[in-house]
Amino acid sequence: MSELSIVAHKMVEKNKGILAADESTPTCNKRFKNLKIESTPESRNFYRNFLFTSLDIEKYISGIILFDETFYQTELSSGMTFPEYLISKDILPGIKVDKGLEDFGSSEKLTQGLDGLSKRLAKYYSLGARFAKWRAVITPGDGIPTDDCILANAKNLAKYAVKCQQTNLVPIVEPEVLMDGSHTIDDSFDITSRTLNTVFDQLQKHKVNLQGIVLKPNMVLSGYNCSYQADITEVAEKTINCLSAHVPAEVPGIAFLSGGQPDEDATMHLNEMNKYETDWNLTFSYGRALQQPALKAWSGKLENVEKAQAVFIDTAKANSLATAAGL
Ligand code: 13P
Repeated sequence: MSELSIVAHKMVEKNKGILAADESTPTCNKRFKNLKIESTPESRNFYRNFLFTSLDIEKYISGIILFDETFYQTELSSGMTFPEYLISKDILPGIKVDKGLEDFGSSEKLTQGLDGLSKRLAKYYSLGARFAKWRAVITPGDGIPTDDCILANAKNLAKYAVKCQQTNLVPIVEPEVLMDGSHTIDDSFDITSRTLNTVFDQLQKHKVNLQGIVLKPNMVLSGYNCSYQADITEVAEKTINCLSAHVPAEVPGIAFLSGGQPDEDATMHLNEMNKYETDWNLTFSYGRALQQPALKAWSGKLENVEKAQAVFIDTAKANSLATAAGL
């Protein structure tokens, strides 16, 4: 197996998943502000430090996606950089490399970041990163998403994936169909189908090695403001059907984003989907659904750190069990 394929398989190994801790500074500021936590480079370092040093994290977490700032910060007791520390715990360090969203027409978005990307990737690899992430955002709404926007995002995802693989980094390919809005689960199914179809078409046209990627899609859910909310079994069935129709069997694994759904729902959806026989391992790459309970338990207070670490490990363990339908 190639290095890429070995790393991709390790990222989606059974009973483990990925922690997305790559919130940009503005996003981190927002999450901290909601809980009245001061956001400074030091407080962000402190927070990531206590998450990553939680006891037994390596039993449940295969890899952690970092933001550029965190990539150069340190594990506080050893002074190692976070990538060095994670490698010492047998956790793969990953790095978010897109540069965020730009307007595409009046109500859609196109992810930026291809300029100078190869150089940045080589540097991250030399400092320990073994995988990268690029998030494309597809917005459901009146007359959107357009085919043009889906195609433009899919092309950028494919170009990013090629550059990653040239640098021996496994690309996480993340086309996120947003679930904010009043669209139905069937709309969500159709938009996710169109998106995945275009993304895999572009990956193949750009000759991306599909055995060396991890797909990070949304689950197929009812829009959060839709009057009919599909239950766990319907979400699992529709998500699996949608993925089965579009994701080639060579892809080693699918690691879902949580997308702002309640934490327990994200866990139970993953558990239900793992009752199906699929060609790929199904796991998590959650940001909010893994961090929100711990962040709340901490609330910026030193005396809450131990409790917050225990909450984080409980959440990670539940999701680890869900990767084997063990709940
Ligand atoms: P959420 O799980 O909070 O959606 O975050 C995952 C992620 O990495 C988004 O890019």
